[in-house]
Amino acid sequence: MGIAIAEFSPVEQTAFVTAYARALDSRWPRPILDDTLSDDIVAKIDDDFQALGVPSSAVRQTALRAKLLDDRVRAFISEHPDAVVVALGAGLDRGMQRVKPPATVDWYSVDLPNVIALRDQLPPADDHAHSVAASLADDGWADSIPPDRPTMLIADGLLAFLPESVIVSLFRGIPEYFRSGELALNDYGRVGQVSLLAMKVAFSAVGNQWAYRGFKDARVPESWNPRLRLVEEAGLAHAPEVDLYPAAARVSTRLMGMSRAGARTAQVLRYGF
Ligand SMILES: C[S@@+](CC[C@H](N)C(=O)[O-])C[C@H]1O[C@@H](n2cnc3c(N)ncnc32)[C@H](O)[C@@H]1O
Repeated sequence: MGIAIAEFSPVEQTAFVTAYARALDSRWPRPILDDTLSDDIVAKIDDDFQALGVPSSAVRQTALRAKLLDDRVRAFISEHPDAVVVALGAGLDRGMQRVKPPATVDWYSVDLPNVIALRDQLPPADDHAHSVAASLADDGWADSIPPDRPTMLIADGLLAFLPESVIVSLFRGIPEYFRSGELALNDYGRVGQVSLLAMKVAFSAVGNQWAYRGFKDARVPESWNPRLRLVEEAGLAHAPEVDLYPAAARVSTRLMGMSRAGARTAQVLRYGF
């Protein structure tokens, strides 16, 4: 019998959607991320992952944005070997095992208490991996994380589940608490009502958790804290890994990437501070 998860709230259950998406990608003949550890992890949890009904498009997008974020973490670490990495809303993701940082790097995973309790039961353990059981909506979530080392914060699949007021205070607080670093996240642009409805239907197994429709413009966070500056907007549709998609998805993704509005629907954004 696997680990039981009966007490998970619907928002905490969203961690299963992305973990399962990465597991499915690793089973494909041409994986994008090839995170076989995610497959091992879902096998240990007592849940009906198939019932989540994760569509192939979400598998591709989840795998590709994780790959793009991993690449950015690797680049930051190669410049700052004493870095701290902070995964916000880390879920069950094992980015640390994909990136394989040197032992000089400490990696903090922040998520809600039930998710962290489950995460801590799952292998592998690492002396430089730290868990923080806290809500990002609460002041003091970062108190156990060193503020004075170069810090790479990542938010993969998180912002949609936070109210705008929480996102604003998060973006205001990060450059005040951490001395210097970067914040990288995935973004869907400003999600329209029709797309929002489609996503709610696609992920109905975990209920209606969508709280934030996205930035009108990637520069909006700069207006929340002038210390944040946008340093990169990377459209998933332009990534070389799209060549691994099946033909129809490859063509439609490349076509989507040809317009500014289309490219904005799936991006990785990076801010320096
Ligand atoms: C879609 S999952 C993504 C998880 C992970 N980043 C991944 O890629 O697998 C969203 C995660 O955000 C977490 N989350 C939502 N609201 C949060 C909050 N207020 N504080 C901390 N974590 C939160 C959820 O518990 C969940 O693990």
